[in-house]
Amino acid sequence: MRITFVTLFPEMYENFIHTSIIGRSIEQGKVQVDFVQIRDFALDKYRHVDDTPFGGGAGMVMKCQPVIDALNSVRTPESYCMMMNPRGNVYTQKKARQLTQYDHLIFLCGHYEGIDARVEEYVDECLSIGDYVLTGGELASMVIADSVIRLCQGVISNDSVEEESFDQELLEYPQYTQPAVYDGHPVPEILLSGHHENIRKWRLLQSLLKTREIRPDLFEKHQLTKEEKKLLDQWDDPEQK
Ligand code: ADE
Repeated sequence: MRITFVTLFPEMYENFIHTSIIGRSIEQGKVQVDFVQIRDFALDKYRHVDDTPFGGGAGMVMKCQPVIDALNSVRTPESYCMMMNPRGNVYTQKKARQLTQYDHLIFLCGHYEGIDARVEEYVDECLSIGDYVLTGGELASMVIADSVIRLCQGVISNDSVEEESFDQELLEYPQYTQPAVYDGHPVPEILLSGHHENIRKWRLLQSLLKTREIRPDLFEKHQLTKEEKKLLDQWDDPEQK
């Protein structure tokens, strides 16, 4: 997969592209990353990329021309082009999986008070990473790129990807490692039992309980299997068999 970040601040990505799993995936050639500096497409001698908003108001707005020219310098008919925008569709794990299908992802990142809204007509989608406003799209693009790269073939083990939160619309079960007791806090005994089937059931129940408690919206969407319903019923009413 190739990923292009179209940005005024490529230096923000320095640690991201050189560290840990993402750094290794790039080093090993599983992912290629490149940058387009929007300012290189400014036409005036001061290389302005922004101007005051029509209608008045605070801050500066990025102009169409340098942004669209920067985009056009790198896009092909095969690219999928996303603009980072708090007014966009809210990003989810489902979207992350969809994005792994493309050979070339382009992230367009605005700064200042945003980008001229006409740019939206030149991208495939606007994406938001949540209901809060960042100073620019760069962090949002790294969040999305990180979650897509880790799903790409060979970047991390298949097992890690298969069992994780959100795939079955449930939060992940809790994980523990050595020591078995830390500062008086023991690991749940069942995890030390070596009984794989009981451990699997315990983990499933923990996922269900956690999701029901802190993400009732996800829990409601989740279709309980027969086994899940039985585990929950037994938990809610231990008397019943
Ligand atoms: N740019 C500023 N805030 C953002 C957000 N929440 N998501 C995506 N891009 C943004």
